[in-house]
Amino acid sequence: MTSIDLRATDVTRLRTDVLVLAAAEGADGPRALGPGEPVAAALGAGFDAALTGAGFTGKPGQVATFPTAGAIRAPLLIAVGVGDADAMTPETLRRAAGAGMRAVHKATSVAVAVPSRDEDDVQAICEGVGLGSYDFDAYRSTPSADGVDDVVVIAATSRAARRALANAQVVVRAVARARDWVNTPPRDLRPPDFAAAVGGLDAPARLKVGVWDEKRLAAERCGGILGVGQGSSSPPRLVRLDYRPRKPAAHLALVGKGITYDSGGLTIKNSAGLMTMKCDMAGAAAVVAATFAIAELGLPVQVTALAAMAENMPSGTATRPGDVLSIRGGQTVEVLNTDAEGRLVLADALVLAAETDPDVVVDVATLTGACVVALGGRTAGVMGNDEPLAEAVTAAGRRAGEEWWRLPIPEEMKAKVSSSAVADLRQHNPDTSGGALFAAAFLREFVTGCRWAHLDIAGPAFHEGDPYGYVPKGGTGFATRTLIRLAQDLTAGAGWARAIPR
Ligand code: BES
Ligand code: MN
Ligand code: ZN
Repeated sequence: MTSIDLRATDVTRLRTDVLVLAAAEGADGPRALGPGEPVAAALGAGFDAALTGAGFTGKPGQVATFPTAGAIRAPLLIAVGVGDADAMTPETLRRAAGAGMRAVHKATSVAVAVPSRDEDDVQAICEGVGLGSYDFDAYRSTPSADGVDDVVVIAATSRAARRALANAQVVVRAVARARDWVNTPPRDLRPPDFAAAVGGLDAPARLKVGVWDEKRLAAERCGGILGVGQGSSSPPRLVRLDYRPRKPAAHLALVGKGITYDSGGLTIKNSAGLMTMKCDMAGAAAVVAATFAIAELGLPVQVTALAAMAENMPSGTATRPGDVLSIRGGQTVEVLNTDAEGRLVLADALVLAAETDPDVVVDVATLTGACVVALGGRTAGVMGNDEPLAEAVTAAGRRAGEEWWRLPIPEEMKAKVSSSAVADLRQHNPDTSGGALFAAAFLREFVTGCRWAHLDIAGPAFHEGDPYGYVPKGGTGFATRTLIRLAQDLTAGAGWARAIPR
């Protein structure tokens, strides 16, 4: 694990293996910013020459590495672009710090000179450092040698700045947990393994972990989770986290989709579709990781988190298209496509969440390919029944560095959800247009009387392209940071949790 420290010092004299330095795109070439300015001065014309020679202009995402040849103490310099210096947001800095850390190889100490204007910037830079240093090498025979021991972030060392660093460290650990779970091969993270992994974490004060096994799920009439899990040789689980601070400002219920592997079941996926489906528990991973972080930060928000875990497999015991399942609370659902399994496990969990009488319910799920088609791989969808809550999620995401986009639940979907010939509801609409919206309309049937947001993270939960900024290949931990920030906003007196009458 990389340790991060703050230091307000002249970086030209800092003893470190590598110096990461932010440079803006200037009118006459790249320009070192803030704590990096004395470095550019010390290197003189060599600074411009080395950068321009490497084709570096300071555009966001650009990285150039060159030796300093004794001009400063650090032998190696990594310049990272931040674009227009006047348009930098915390996310610009988070990405720059992450890209810089990803360019570090075989160094034990790194100094990061990225300009910070306030504690939000400091937190973003420290998050970028931690998130960009992430590496999943548990399954390599030779672990990578790139792990950095010590990072010094050049910034103010005020109380507020140190609090920002401490916050960032909690956030980074949470995201790393979520990424690790998503990246773990699905045979090593089946529902009982996932539940045990959550139970095995060091629980912070006032956080309790409970697990329902398949017998308890049957006794509690959770027919959705059981129906999805019944084709697998590994039984389903429901993990419940209860965080109860002394004087909570609000009660937040979180629900996560935890399909540890989604083969599609009898409605089996094609070979391309199967390759990444270990990621189908990313919603549960984010919800659990965020709840631990909220408790570690001691935020005064009560959280009830429910992670519905099942493995969706085809077999002689699997649910068949045509079967009817009875969800907790008694509504019956005709299953028409076993690959639309997420909404079935979420239905039980949403009913359970609503039973705890929270102020708001937020579910997180890698729910539909349709959402990926609509929004791509870097933006997640927000649906629900409450405009201010959806806006609060989007705003929390903007501050946390995760992009959300509001999608509607068109009125026509209501009739489609209720059009089963044999059961109360149908789970799948053969007309797949607007598939993300139909899924949301289905979920809505299980949260009546609750203020609710549905977050479809099917696109950004898993990154298949080249790494960028602080985003690695594989699990991204998406939604973890937004949920933590949402809880912080709730405590900061935003008031929206109680302001709107139910
Ligand atoms: N887990 C998938 C959705 C998904 C797709 C997540 C791509 C991440 C990347 C979900 O269970 C699923 O299979 N959805 C179906 C629904 C359809 C049968 C209505 C889909 O999107 O094809
Ligand atoms: Mn599926
Ligand atoms: Zn799925």
